[in-house]
Amino acid sequence: MTEPASIRLIKPPQVLLLLTAVLMFAWSATAEAGAAPAGFDADRPTVLITGSNRGIGLGLARHYAADGWNVIATARNPAKAKELQQLADSYPAFHIAALDVTDLDRIQQLADDLDAVTIDVLINNAGVLGDLEGQQFGSFDFEQFEWTMAVNVYGPMAMAEAFKDHVAASQQKKIVTLTSGLGSLTLMGRMQGMTYYRISKAGINMGMRAIRASLRAEGVVVALVAPGMVETQLLADSGYRGKALSPAESAAGMAEIIAGLTPDDDGTPTNVDGKTIPW
Ligand SMILES: NC(=O)c1ccc[n+]([C@@H]2O[C@H](COP(=O)([O-])OP(=O)(O)OC[C@H]3O[C@@H](n4cnc5c(N)ncnc54)[C@H](OP(=O)(O)O)[C@@H]3O)[C@@H](O)[C@H]2O)c1
Repeated sequence: MTEPASIRLIKPPQVLLLLTAVLMFAWSATAEAGAAPAGFDADRPTVLITGSNRGIGLGLARHYAADGWNVIATARNPAKAKELQQLADSYPAFHIAALDVTDLDRIQQLADDLDAVTIDVLINNAGVLGDLEGQQFGSFDFEQFEWTMAVNVYGPMAMAEAFKDHVAASQQKKIVTLTSGLGSLTLMGRMQGMTYYRISKAGINMGMRAIRASLRAEGVVVALVAPGMVETQLLADSGYRGKALSPAESAAGMAEIIAGLTPDDDGTPTNVDGKTIPW
């Protein structure tokens, strides 16, 4: 898992930019600005999920599609997202869009493309663990650090800014970001390693908490939900060996928590089992 060379906050060369733009247009063809994606039903709630091609994001996309929602499933590389393509074949209200959450211009472009769509629940799911060795004290790799922060922190903050009007105009008005117990100062104890990942999750906890106040007047609920230990690539990369939830179980649990969110919630991170995660 060594990806820092592709940090998109740094502008790519022109040729790559052109290629990326062509691919993006191809994959968001049914979401021209001013029109809802084909198949969307205005009477159903709509969810947008980042990083939905695998792991928990795919579990969430499957869950909401089966539950009858309009789903905007975003992925860095839709052409390789076979499961998402199958879901789009099965559910008419399932739209796939290309999105790398470190590409701030693309985030804004997607928000513009979807300006006719109200988004009831925006789920910032995309996340990276980062290379474990590069985040060990004594061998810090700051390029890895920047990449982890770009995906896990800057991306969700930019998504919230770009899509706040879509969410504020919806019925449910919820912005949900996936966090982790590893972002808790209270729970960290003497644990070592995963430094950048833990900083990023603590950081996004504070980030979402900070924008919560700005969005409150518009009735938007800003929430932090942890999926539990879930059998995904990220968990495998962390070295964890133990009992874990399937992505489907975690998605179902989180959807229940999300459904129960109200403007009165205090914004403290909630685990998939309903327990509060202390800051
Ligand atoms: N699994 C757990 O036990 C666990 C526990 C606590 C919290 N979480 C959180 O849950 C979320 C999902 O994790 P997961 O376990 O499902 O991980 P995963 O299986 O590794 O999946 C990560 C997803 O994020 C996407 N992604 C990575 N970089 C991206 C970028 N720059 N732009 C857009 N998408 C990007 C990946 O897309 P590509 O396929 O293109 O790489 C993939 O779809 C993360 O925020 C993670 O921190 C997971």
